[in-house]
Amino acid sequence: MGILEVKNVGKRFGGLQALSEVNLSIKENSVHAIIGPNGAGKSTLLNCLVGKLIPDTGSVMFDGRSVLGRAPFEINQMGISRVFQTPEIFGDLSVLENMMIPCFAKRDGAFEMNAFSDVMSQKDVLEKAEHMLEEMNMADKRHMHSASLSRGDKRRLEIGMCLSQEPRLLLLDEPTAGMARADTNNTIDLLKQIAADRDITIAIIEHDMHVVFSLANRITVLAQGTPLVEDDPENIRGNPKVREAYLGESA
Ligand SMILES: Nc1ncnc2c1ncn2[C@@H]1O[C@H](COP(=O)(O)OP(=O)(O)O)[C@@H](O)[C@H]1O
Ligand SMILES: [Mg+2]
Repeated sequence: MGILEVKNVGKRFGGLQALSEVNLSIKENSVHAIIGPNGAGKSTLLNCLVGKLIPDTGSVMFDGRSVLGRAPFEINQMGISRVFQTPEIFGDLSVLENMMIPCFAKRDGAFEMNAFSDVMSQKDVLEKAEHMLEEMNMADKRHMHSASLSRGDKRRLEIGMCLSQEPRLLLLDEPTAGMARADTNNTIDLLKQIAADRDITIAIIEHDMHVVFSLANRITVLAQGTPLVEDDPENIRGNPKVREAYLGESA
């Protein structure tokens, strides 16, 4: 049994069957990539995992509990954090101030409103934020204006903000899309380090094969809304079905 079990998920938008009979099992502590051509249904599937969409059919279980019908914040409390394609940080705040925001939220999801007036809590939040920045190798940038960070460092900060909530499953939708190679490599190194150092499962939706083959130890190929193959990276590379799915995109 995987930490995340998707069974027979289907989702229709009007006349378009965006997902059908999606079965997916993500093993605890793996780095599982979901790849596939444009329009394959990758983002739709991710949205079904985090409470942004409710599938028409099937089930999605995280650690034995259904995520379906739960609000995104409840799913977050269950231990799933998501990094969006566009970094969700406040450009006007410093790096440290951004990092402090999720640190106010307790693990059980309660938002500590009186933390601002409570000297001890505020100190704890500051310490936690400083500690996370150290772990992200960003301590020297803590007083920088977040808007002036490189794309790679914005992503690094955002991933750190997710990790401060101690998720058991981290979901990323094309985390390196539109990045220069140096920023992409910066993000790859960070995710490798997180996978090695933490008790965490990573599911990544990705277009860039360099990123996929640098990180994943399991790959699901989605094509036209349904899984085509699920296998180890070495078996995916030369698989003719996979090449066909991608060639279909450029034809
Ligand atoms: N909210 C929506 N309403 C209608 N069609 C949608 C919606 N979201 C996605 N689609 C369609 O569903 C299909 C899968 O989209 P998506 O999951 O975004 O694919 P991917 O992320 O693999 O590129 C596409 O044909 C897309 O146009
Ligand atoms: Mg997408």
